[in-house]
Amino acid sequence: MGKEKVKYICRQCGYEAYKWMGRCPGCQSWNSMSKEAFSPAGTGQPNRSGEPENSRLLNVIEPLAEERLYTGIEELDRVLGGGAVPGTTILVGGDPGIGKSTLLLQAALGLVSQGHKVLYITGEESLPQIRMRADRLRLAHLPALILAETEYSRIAASIAKHNPRIAVLDSIQTTVKSELGNVPGSVIQVREITASLVQLAKSRGIIFFIIGHVTKEGALAGPRMLEHMVDCVLYFEGERYQNFRLLRSIKNRFGATNEIGIFTMESQGLQEVLNPSSLFLTERPASGAGAVVVPVMEGTRPLLVEIQGLVTPTYFNGPPRRIATGLDYNRVAIIIAVLEKRAGLQLYKCDIFINVVGGVKIGEPAMDLGVAVCLNSSLRNQAIMHQTMFVGEVGLTGEIRPVNRVEERLKEGAKMGFCYCVLPRGNLTANLLATLKEGDRKLKLVGVSTLTEAFRFAFEGK
Ligand code: TYD
Ligand code: MG
Repeated sequence: MGKEKVKYICRQCGYEAYKWMGRCPGCQSWNSMSKEAFSPAGTGQPNRSGEPENSRLLNVIEPLAEERLYTGIEELDRVLGGGAVPGTTILVGGDPGIGKSTLLLQAALGLVSQGHKVLYITGEESLPQIRMRADRLRLAHLPALILAETEYSRIAASIAKHNPRIAVLDSIQTTVKSELGNVPGSVIQVREITASLVQLAKSRGIIFFIIGHVTKEGALAGPRMLEHMVDCVLYFEGERYQNFRLLRSIKNRFGATNEIGIFTMESQGLQEVLNPSSLFLTERPASGAGAVVVPVMEGTRPLLVEIQGLVTPTYFNGPPRRIATGLDYNRVAIIIAVLEKRAGLQLYKCDIFINVVGGVKIGEPAMDLGVAVCLNSSLRNQAIMHQTMFVGEVGLTGEIRPVNRVEERLKEGAKMGFCYCVLPRGNLTANLLATLKEGDRKLKLVGVSTLTEAFRFAFEGK
């Protein structure tokens, strides 16, 4: 073994340097460089010059047989792009305690119940603890193989012995390769083990689910660094004090990203939410000022969410406060500026708080109009037209621009019993009207091309 050296690796992005730096040049995060020992001979690319060259012509390569395994959890299967593909690695990240182990144990047992061989490897819990969890899920009768192990070589040996179709590693941060000599969860450990798991999955055709904790700055190397190595990255998130959870796909080599799955955490494990719009709209007072419903697209699925705003005077001539939760702050700042300049709203002497109910995060510009109406409604202290939803992008001149996939949004609104939808006039094409079915016609469409027109309908009903 060569002489031990140290290098500094960013816990956030994996940037490497030979001297310590306060700020990572790779991802600009502060205080994220961690000191790690490595032996120059042990890491790096092995010398492959003796191996045969094995490039192939594209037109003679056999395509992959498109096989998919279904976990039986519909929300998870959809987020994966319609089931999981053998030979791939799927990283599931999320805050500690959010429900990653529960989700994957449920998925694993779902696969076992279809007759697949599953190995669940836990470095965090003991075998009786897993048994207790399975009891809670009412799935303890299923013959899944459980291994309580943290050492990589023994995990690999167990996989070689049992040859499972599906394996779950809970979690990447507790697993160690002792020959690397670092503490579990260090950057080198996490990266090396993930690389080995990717190889193992490919060579054996295993579906490998890897759990990774997303940690607050400092403690452990986070899953962010592994995103480029694995085939699919899912994040499991939710508000700690609310019982629903969102599973979001960040990267997927075999399906669309931005897809979300919605669950609630119940006493018997995670339940799928099949009609998510109803979940986010349940606690809506009939006529509150500053509340607006917007049909947003989350991946391929429309979702009705409620935006709530509160506009109050700034006292003592302080600088106005602006807080946006679940929305892009910069986007909200632009809309506030447009409201000032194009609609004459005096927001400069007001504090503005705006958030999306239920902890959902919206990134699409189609919610602009909803934000504008919501802020105006709170400023005027006047509720908007009953049973109306708003969708549209707001331009800098106060014009309302068309949005994509308007048909799906309208159908979801009709399904949830809305009476009116204010939408960009540019979206009201003959084509759209032709595709709406009888049942969707109950939703009356109000086309607008400026903010002023939208406000006229929202507050005066014309
Ligand atoms: P867990 O899956 O252990 O989280 P993670 O692996 O992401 O750290 O889930 C933790 C929480 O979920 C814990 O607070 C208990 C709760 N829980 C339920 O509410 N119902 C259940 O059926 C189960 C198994 C857990
Ligand atoms: Mg866990």
